[in-house]
Amino acid sequence: MNHATRCGRRFALLLALAGTLWLTGQPVQAEYGDLVLNENAEKEGMPPVIFPHWFHRIRFRCKVCHADLGFQFKAGGSGINMLKIIDGQYCGACHNGEIAWSVENCNICHSGKPGLPTQVIGSRLGKLAPPGPTQGQQK
Ligand code: HEC
Ligand code: HEC
Ligand code: HEC
Repeated sequence: MNHATRCGRRFALLLALAGTLWLTGQPVQAEYGDLVLNENAEKEGMPPVIFPHWFHRIRFRCKVCHADLGFQFKAGGSGINMLKIIDGQYCGACHNGEIAWSVENCNICHSGKPGLPTQVIGSRLGKLAPPGPTQGQQK
């Protein structure tokens, strides 16, 4: 990555985030808008789940997940577990081999580095759109 790209991206992130994770010096291990879900995964021997919220938000309306599927507006807040997913709830409502690839692909969801707490981290904004007023108008 060249210097200009890096500066541009850093600037976009600062604009978008002013005063949050980046300025606290927290290491960024995924992209902003990604959620780490690790209430039980690591305790049960699986790597933390990285849920790319932004990736999903541009494909589905909020209501699909936050009303119809019962996801709470809080990372770790919905009591999601693997049994419910296999039963077709939460992530499993789509990751069933029909709407999206199925639950057998453990590693695509359980892709986090060990030790990540449940939280929101990282950003895709800088990659999808130029900073500023054009945000949210990806082509
Ligand atoms: C494909 C499903 C999906 C869609 C679509 C979706 N979300 Fe989410 N959202 C989630 C999940 C999953 C969580 C985490 C819930 C959990 O961990 O229990 C979450 C968490 C959140 C959070 C809390 C993050 C935090 O700080 O902890 C907010 C705010 C949020 N969503 C807003 C939105 C908005 C606004 C939209 C529409 C523009 C949207 N979501 C669309 C699945 C979705
Ligand atoms: C579509 C995404 C997705 C896939 C695919 C997936 N998981 Fe999960 N898994 C989750 C989520 C979300 C959680 C809850 C994360 C947490 O602990 O907060 C979870 C939790 C778990 C847990 C913790 C205990 C429990 O029951 O919740 C285990 C163990 C687990 N998964 C194993 C697996 C295995 C093995 C596979 C492959 C056969 C798999 N997962 C595939 C999303 C997925
Ligand atoms: C409303 C439907 C829906 C729900 C609910 C949903 N997903 Fe997805 N997800 C999709 C679709 C569609 C794709 C794209 C599949 C493809 O590219 O073939 C996807 C892709 C992904 C990807 C790959 C993203 C990438 O960069 O390629 C991950 C990781 C993922 N989902 C995890 C999850 C987890 C974890 C949950 C639950 C917390 C979840 N999803 C809930 C529909 C959903």
